[in-house]
Amino acid sequence: MKLFVYHTPEAVPPTGPLPDCAIAVDVLRATSTIATALNAGAAGVQAFSDLQNLLDASESWDPNHRIRIGERGGKMVEGFDLGNSPLDCTPDRVKGARIFISTTNGTRALACIQSAKTVLTAAFINRATVVRYLLQQQPETVWIVGSGWEGNFSLEDTGCAGAVVEGVLAAGAVSLDDLAGNDEAVAAVMLYRSFQNDLVSLLKHATHGQRLLGLKLYEDLEYCAQIDALGVLPIQQEPGILVKHEAF
Ligand code: MLT
Repeated sequence: MKLFVYHTPEAVPPTGPLPDCAIAVDVLRATSTIATALNAGAAGVQAFSDLQNLLDASESWDPNHRIRIGERGGKMVEGFDLGNSPLDCTPDRVKGARIFISTTNGTRALACIQSAKTVLTAAFINRATVVRYLLQQQPETVWIVGSGWEGNFSLEDTGCAGAVVEGVLAAGAVSLDDLAGNDEAVAAVMLYRSFQNDLVSLLKHATHGQRLLGLKLYEDLEYCAQIDALGVLPIQQEPGILVKHEAF
C-alpha cells in the first residue's frame, strides 16, 4: 500500500491512473460535519460544488426528510437550513434525513476524487475508522486529498492526512519510507507529530481556524480537534453520495 498526500484538490495528478482509494479531508469543517451527521443517523449525505444544483436536486425531496447545508466563507448561506457546523448535526435533527451539502472547499475536493474505485472522507474525529479500513482492505494506492482554502494549503487538512498515515504506521507492519508515496506524505506525518498532543492549537494556527474564531466558532474547533472520537466511516455509495459503511 502506498499513501499519497495532496494538500489541495488542485495538486492531484490531472492525468494518469486513479487510485484504488481516495480520501477527502476537510477538518474545518465539511468532513467533520459529514462524519458527525452519519454517526447521528443521517440516511445519506449528498455533496454539491454548486449551490443552485443542490437546491434543484433537493427540491423534489420531502422537506420533512431533507436538510440543506450551505456554507461559504465559514458562514451559512441564506435560504439554507444549516451552516456547516458539525455541532448542529444532532440525532434529533438529522436522524433518517438526506443531507444536501455544499461548502466552500470540501465538497469541491469530493467532486475531484469521486471517480476513484473507493471514496472515503476523513477528519480528526473519525481518523481511527479510516485507518482500520486501510489496514484491513490494503488498497494498493491511496490518495489523501486536503480541501485547502480556495486552492491554498491548509494546515489542518494536511495535519489530518498525516494523522491517517501515522495511524497506519502505528500498526508496525511497514516503514514510513515504504508507506509514503510522495514527499507530501512524509511532511504530513511530521506536521501531525508536531501537534498530536494539542490539536486545538493546530486548528488555532490554521488560517481557516482563525477565520472561524473570528466568527466566534471556538466550540467547532474544539469539537473538530477530538482525534478518533467517532467510530464512523463515510463511504461513497454512488457519485457524490456518502453513507455510513456498516462494517466499520
Ligand atoms: C470548506 O469547505 O472549506 C469548509 O467546510 C468551510 C467551513 O465549513 O468552515
